[in-house]
Amino acid sequence: MSFSKTIQPVATPLSFHIHTFENFDNPVYYLGVIGLRIIDIFMVLLGFFFTVLGIIGIFGTLPGFFYTGYLFYAYCRNKFNDRSLIKVIEKGTRPKVEILDDKLFSRPIIVDYLKNILQPDSDQSFYYVVCGEHGSGKTTLFRIASSEVGRGVVYVDVPSRVEDFGKGFGKALNFAFEERISFTQQLTRKLVDTNGNSNEPVWWRALKAFKRGAKEYKAKYNKPAVIVCDNVSRLVHKNPEVLDILQDDAKDNADEHIYIAVFICSEGAVLRMKSRSSWSRAKNPPMEICDLSEEESIKYMTEIHKITEKAGELYQLVGGRILELKSVANDLSSKQFIEDIREKILLKAYNKLYSAKILKNQKHHEAGKRVIDALLRSKEINIEEFRELFANEEKYDDALEANVFSFHPSRNTVSFQSQSIEYYIRENYDAFADLVSLSSNYASTSK
Ligand SMILES: Nc1ncnc2c1ncn2[C@@H]1O[C@H](COP(=O)(O)OP(=O)(O)OP(=O)(O)O)[C@@H](O)[C@H]1O
Ligand SMILES: [Mg+2]
Repeated sequence: MSFSKTIQPVATPLSFHIHTFENFDNPVYYLGVIGLRIIDIFMVLLGFFFTVLGIIGIFGTLPGFFYTGYLFYAYCRNKFNDRSLIKVIEKGTRPKVEILDDKLFSRPIIVDYLKNILQPDSDQSFYYVVCGEHGSGKTTLFRIASSEVGRGVVYVDVPSRVEDFGKGFGKALNFAFEERISFTQQLTRKLVDTNGNSNEPVWWRALKAFKRGAKEYKAKYNKPAVIVCDNVSRLVHKNPEVLDILQDDAKDNADEHIYIAVFICSEGAVLRMKSRSSWSRAKNPPMEICDLSEEESIKYMTEIHKITEKAGELYQLVGGRILELKSVANDLSSKQFIEDIREKILLKAYNKLYSAKILKNQKHHEAGKRVIDALLRSKEINIEEFRELFANEEKYDDALEANVFSFHPSRNTVSFQSQSIEYYIRENYDAFADLVSLSSNYASTSK
């Protein structure tokens, strides 16, 4: 059977693509085969092209999807952070006072005064610096006042591990360190650093967050928020530039009435802060938290520690520094003899005088004696007189650092750092008497 009979060519212009023995000799047949191949190749390429396009489309849509999702997430997160910041400021951080009610000695006049400074006017343009000797009760008083005022007051403190300042600051604000940044930045950060870490120090990010909240607070209540920074003296030694920035920022924000800063520190930090141009916006003179008066000290001993008989004697030893009163009261309550307590106090004072190098045969003995003499005459002397008596800066820095004398920025004066130092000197008068032009007043009353 002939093949040509089985497959009948169709009489169409496309009939050339039908394989017949009859058209092998026909050149049109070969042209048709080539054309067919070209069309085939073209169709394959077209298919391939659309497949690639499809794949690219799928992969191209995914990041778009991710990006849009992330923008939405970033928006929600910013909104959430801002809302929680303003809530924290509205409520205030209300720090706890770590003293049992029956052990807390009331100091209503100072607390009222502090409450007043924690509620600034809408156009107040200065910040506060509050100082006082260690253990005079600054932290306790500010915690009480901050909690009582509540609204608008954020209390933060510089911890003993200064590096944790930012973390503590953030914690006080309930801040998740996911601060508001542009969406592109958020995305870049997310892509580059999956932990969302920023190169900015944590404390600075917390401060920025606080300022954002303070701005909203101001817009809502027409009052500046207040930030109380406790223990800033710790920054002076370990991270002074952080204190400088905090101080400069406090000035700028007082100018703009966004927030009012209250720095709580010792006198050393005041000296540093005073030397800077942003001191121009500090409330002057700085406020000082003083020791309890004799009457208050006796009241504290009798009411809080139930010590009546020896209260006066203990006051003579340590004066009105509440930390020291508490310590000697506890010693007495734990059945220590007053003589032993006295010895302990004298040893502590001796160690301070030793560190200040003003004991006999020590480097600053002569200068120290001149100052001691002046202080025995008048309790407090002007800082300039103190400098003159000490004759050089290194010496008086040593003495101030060692807590033998203390500087009072509110009055620009210097006194003995504590009653126990004075007590030691009185008890060891001979060691200082040879060169001191004895105060006749003192000589006649002290023995
Ligand atoms: N009003 C008070 N009633 C009872 N105890 C108090 C009172 N104020 C302070 N204290 C006690 O005295 C000690 C020192 O107080 P506080 O920490 O407030 O002093 P400070 O001036 O902040 O000291 P520092 O400069 O070292 O930070 C604490 O143990 C505290 O419990
Ligand atoms: Mg304190």
